[in-house]
Amino acid sequence: MLIKKPADIRPSEITSKRNYLNRREFIRAGAIAGGSILAASAVPATAVGAVVPEARRAALTDVSSSPFSTDEAPNSYEDITTYNNYYEFGTGKADPFENAQDFEPRPWTITVDGHAERTGAFDFDDFIKPFDLEERIYRMRCVEAWSMVIPWVGFPLAEVVKYFKPTSKAKYVAFETLNDRARMPGQRRRSLEWPYRESLTIAEATNPLTILAVGLYGEVLPNQNGAPIRLVVPWKYGFKGIKGIVRMRFTERRPRTSWNMSQPREYGFYANVNPNVDHPRWSQARERRIGSGLFASKQQTLMFNGYGDQVADLYKGLDLRRNF
Ligand code: MTE
Repeated sequence: MLIKKPADIRPSEITSKRNYLNRREFIRAGAIAGGSILAASAVPATAVGAVVPEARRAALTDVSSSPFSTDEAPNSYEDITTYNNYYEFGTGKADPFENAQDFEPRPWTITVDGHAERTGAFDFDDFIKPFDLEERIYRMRCVEAWSMVIPWVGFPLAEVVKYFKPTSKAKYVAFETLNDRARMPGQRRRSLEWPYRESLTIAEATNPLTILAVGLYGEVLPNQNGAPIRLVVPWKYGFKGIKGIVRMRFTERRPRTSWNMSQPREYGFYANVNPNVDHPRWSQARERRIGSGLFASKQQTLMFNGYGDQVADLYKGLDLRRNF
C-alpha cells in the first residue's frame, strides 16, 4: 500500500469551504499534501489509502458543530467507507469502495425543476455556495438490521428548499442519482430500475434533521458514500439517503421511489424506522452496530431511530403499519 508522506501545505490551499470543490485544487492538494490533509482531520491514520485514495481526500473547514448530533461514539472511518450500499457500483457491501475509486464526481451539475420559483441547472460549487457547513453525528439504521453512527458534514435541506422557493403546488421533493452506465458499472445490470430515485414530503424535507451531506469525518464525501452530495434522513431507513444527486424536483404528486418500485411489499414510501412493523422477511426489532464485533449482542431498535421527539408529529393521524 502506498501512503504519501505529509508535506507542508497551507490550509487555505486545500480547505476553504468556498474553494475546496475546485477540482484541480482538490487533486493537487491531495497529491502533494497526502497525510497532512489527514493530520487536519479526525480520521485514524490506519484507515488511509486502503479505503479512499489519497488524491481524493481533502479536509473541509468552516464547519460548525451541530446541536442535533448524538453523543454516541461514531463508527470508524474504515467501517463507514468499506461497508456500503450503492448499487450503481455493485450489490456487495465491499463493491462500492472497490468499484467507485476511479469515479470522478466532477464536473457535476444539479438540476432543480418542478414547482419552484427558482429553477435551473447549477454547477455543484454554485449549488452549495449559499449554505453553511455543519458536522452532524447521526445514527443510521439500515433496513437490513445493521446500524452505524456517522459524522456527516452537510447543511439543512430546509435551507435549500427555502432558497429555491417552492410554490404552493409543491407537496414533495424528488431526487435522482446520476444515470451513466459508463461511469457507474453497476448500472449495466438491472439490479434496480435506473436512475435511483427517492422522495420526501415537503414537511419531511424541511424538518431540521434532514440534511444534504457533502462530507464525513471532516473531509469531502468519499465516492462510495455518495460524492459529491447525498441525502441523510436519520429517522428513516438508510435507503432514503440517496447518493450522487443530480436532480431535485418539486412535485405535486407523490413521486415513485426506487425500492418501492422494485419491491413494493417490502419497501414503502415513508420508510420510517419502525421496530414494531416487521419487514416481510425479517424482524426489525433489533439491530447490529457495525464494528461492534461478530459476537456483540444486538441492540433494540428505537422508533424513528430514536428521533421521535423531533419527527413523530409529522405522522400524526397516519397508520404507520399501512404507511410503512
Ligand atoms: N443511493 C443510490 N444512488 N444508490 C444506492 O444503491 N443505497 C441506499 C442509500 N443510497 C443507495 C443509495 C441504501 S440501501 C443505504 S443503506 C444507504 O445508501 C447506505 O449509505 P452508506 O453506504 O453511506 O452507509
